[in-house]
Amino acid sequence: VSASDPGMLVREYATSERLERRRHDVTGWLRGEEAWSEALAAIAEARPSRVLDAGCGDGRLTREIAAPRVVGVDAAAAMVERARERGVDARLARIEELPFPDGAFDVVVCNWVLYHLPDVEAGVRELVRVLRPGGRFVGVYNRNGHMEELWTRVHAPYADGDDYGDLLARHFSRVEERDTDAYTLWQTRADLQEFLDAFVELHGPLEAPGEPYPFTVTRRNRVYVAETAA
Ligand SMILES: C[S@@+](CC[C@H](N)C(=O)[O-])C[C@H]1O[C@@H](n2cnc3c(N)ncnc32)[C@H](O)[C@@H]1O
Repeated sequence: VSASDPGMLVREYATSERLERRRHDVTGWLRGEEAWSEALAAIAEARPSRVLDAGCGDGRLTREIAAPRVVGVDAAAAMVERARERGVDARLARIEELPFPDGAFDVVVCNWVLYHLPDVEAGVRELVRVLRPGGRFVGVYNRNGHMEELWTRVHAPYADGDDYGDLLARHFSRVEERDTDAYTLWQTRADLQEFLDAFVELHGPLEAPGEPYPFTVTRRNRVYVAETAA
């Protein structure tokens, strides 16, 4: 199933439970450079007054963003509800049709969402529209080899990363890539199985390897930091 399949997206995001269980620190232990911290640093550098988290999901990162005005949007009602429970000003909206005027934000964040858009060019155009001139885009995605130790062992072809460098270069005047490497350790097979079960809509059923435990994977992420012309 494609990552932008409408039926899959509706089923997957009908509840925030699987997304929340895929956070590596829920079933395992994280160490190293966390991509979220790098993203938060890239947001803070711009010293924004107005930030949009587009495809904010459960709002776990959104609520960490420090700015006078932070808004999240998501296409899934369950995500908007969960983000609101976390105190986020979250609204139900699709990235392709954002309910904001031109230039409404200093920073637009869009982590692990672009691959869900049927027309990613149109989505990025809309994100650029709501950014002010000289505004900043921040987006976390996976690089090739992300968690390959796990995907190899479960014979699943999910270690291919998403490369948005060329796409972003078509819409922004400057694009920077900040790569992070982190590690996740699962103590037991049951813990890793719980993590894999959270991918059932995305990847189908997967069985955790019998050994070795603790099981360690490398988390290879890329934080795209792009700017519109001033
Ligand atoms: C993998 S989750 C990432 C959530 C969050 N950004 C994070 O990093 O935890 C993808 C999110 O994008 C949302 N989404 C998918 N397509 C969307 C669209 N066209 N417009 C807005 N949100 C969308 C989903 O509902 C889901 O919450």
